Amino acid sequence: MRCQHVCAVVLAAGAGRRMGQDKALLDLGGTTAIERVVADLELAGVDSVVVVRAAGAGPLPAGLAERAHVVLAHGSEMIASVRAGVAARPPAADGLLLLPVDHALAGHEALAALIARLDPGHGRIVLPLHGGRPGHPIALAASLAAELDDPRVTTLRDVIRRDPGRVLAVPVASPWVVRDLDTPADLAAARAALRGPPADVLALMAAHRSRRAFAATPIEDAQLEALVDAARHASTSSMLQTYQVVAVRDAQRRAQVAALCAGQAHVREAPVFLAICADLHKLALACERHGVTLDASALELFVEATIDAALLGQNLLLAAESQGLGGCMIGAAREHPVQLARLLGLPRGCYVAFGLVLGHPADDPLPRPRLPLRAVLQRERHEAAALAGVLDEADAAARAWAQATNEQRGGFLGRRVDVTRGWSDRVARLWSHEHPQSKARRNLAAELRELGFGLQ
Ligand SMILES: Cc1cc2nc3c(=O)[nH]c(=O)nc-3n(C[C@H](O)[C@H](O)[C@H](O)COP(=O)(O)O)c2cc1C
Repeated sequence: MRCQHVCAVVLAAGAGRRMGQDKALLDLGGTTAIERVVADLELAGVDSVVVVRAAGAGPLPAGLAERAHVVLAHGSEMIASVRAGVAARPPAADGLLLLPVDHALAGHEALAALIARLDPGHGRIVLPLHGGRPGHPIALAASLAAELDDPRVTTLRDVIRRDPGRVLAVPVASPWVVRDLDTPADLAAARAALRGPPADVLALMAAHRSRRAFAATPIEDAQLEALVDAARHASTSSMLQTYQVVAVRDAQRRAQVAALCAGQAHVREAPVFLAICADLHKLALACERHGVTLDASALELFVEATIDAALLGQNLLLAAESQGLGGCMIGAAREHPVQLARLLGLPRGCYVAFGLVLGHPADDPLPRPRLPLRAVLQRERHEAAALAGVLDEADAAARAWAQATNEQRGGFLGRRVDVTRGWSDRVARLWSHEHPQSKARRNLAAELRELGFGLQ
């Protein structure tokens, strides 16, 4: 049975202390949060809107009073606002939608999806679910309104927990049902989202440079969380999601990590080091649940986990770059895999595939050239002939980069770059039998086995 009259209660009485301003009046893409919310509620088909404000709060934008009934909260707790708003619903309302104004970006499609699943006859509570997490707003049959007045109820979650059997979780596409606008960083992210993707994602990708020096400005946890949240939407083998990110901010711990990563200064100095781990531990837990044990012996599983981690890491760096941050991947995290795993308390079946340092960039390296496109993209089948001249071009481009870096930047990481060496010289030094460097990390397989990977 569908509701005959859905009343939305917009909770807009918070002081917005962490935001430093009244959240209802935040400017979101040229319109206030409260106007955006009311417009979305109208689009979603609600029949009436009650807005709950704090006594003494600033006036709402002109014209809103005709579209919504404004009432005052009696108390600063969210539940007090809920009670005041619900008490002011029209008598005809058989469905309620409780929408905190700091979920202003939830979007009318998500709101409509919740309303569509409301069932006044069955006392249902409908929650939006995004990325497996429950969010806001919460829709409920008006017949449950009396429960909100129970003095034992101090949060909406209390009502939800009371009888999980009546809760229906509806997956929605909008990430903003699980992200509220609490801090200025949230606001910046919301505004960036409203601006839409950068005019040209390809241009953003082509502008990539690894950044190895950073301003002292920290990356706020909310921003870090938003980046990892976005990054984990990368494709993942069989939905296994065999990755784990461990964020290290503590300076002392970062120094310990840096010591295990060939002493790289940017690992020590970046505001955050992210260990991008390939992680079979959660698979082991899943197997345990079913009374079986994970077979981590297969090389295939190691490769899958490593690919999953790499996709997540690259997504993460790109997401960071889209927000004006920069970073550098740290393969040196594989210098001492066992020691690093111990330092980070990694469980068995988890190793740091690579690190990623992130921050507000303070360097300005010249972009490094890539191999010519024809060496990377071939059509229908590989043609060796297409590679003719590729090494010459790659060498010339690398030498030109070295020369320009010396001339325009005074060198790279404090050292002049050898302008006589091309790309192929570098390869020959790194991975030929004749050069001792090719012995690098030759104990990796043994260390990975020690960490629980079979590699068979
Ligand atoms: C998996 C991986 C590991 C890397 N490890 C390191 C590292 O340990 N230290 C470092 O300074 N740069 C590291 N880099 C950055 C590369 O040197 C850099 O991406 C490459 O030279 C191309 O330069 P660009 O990223 O500025 O275009 C790594 C890159 C990748 C993809």
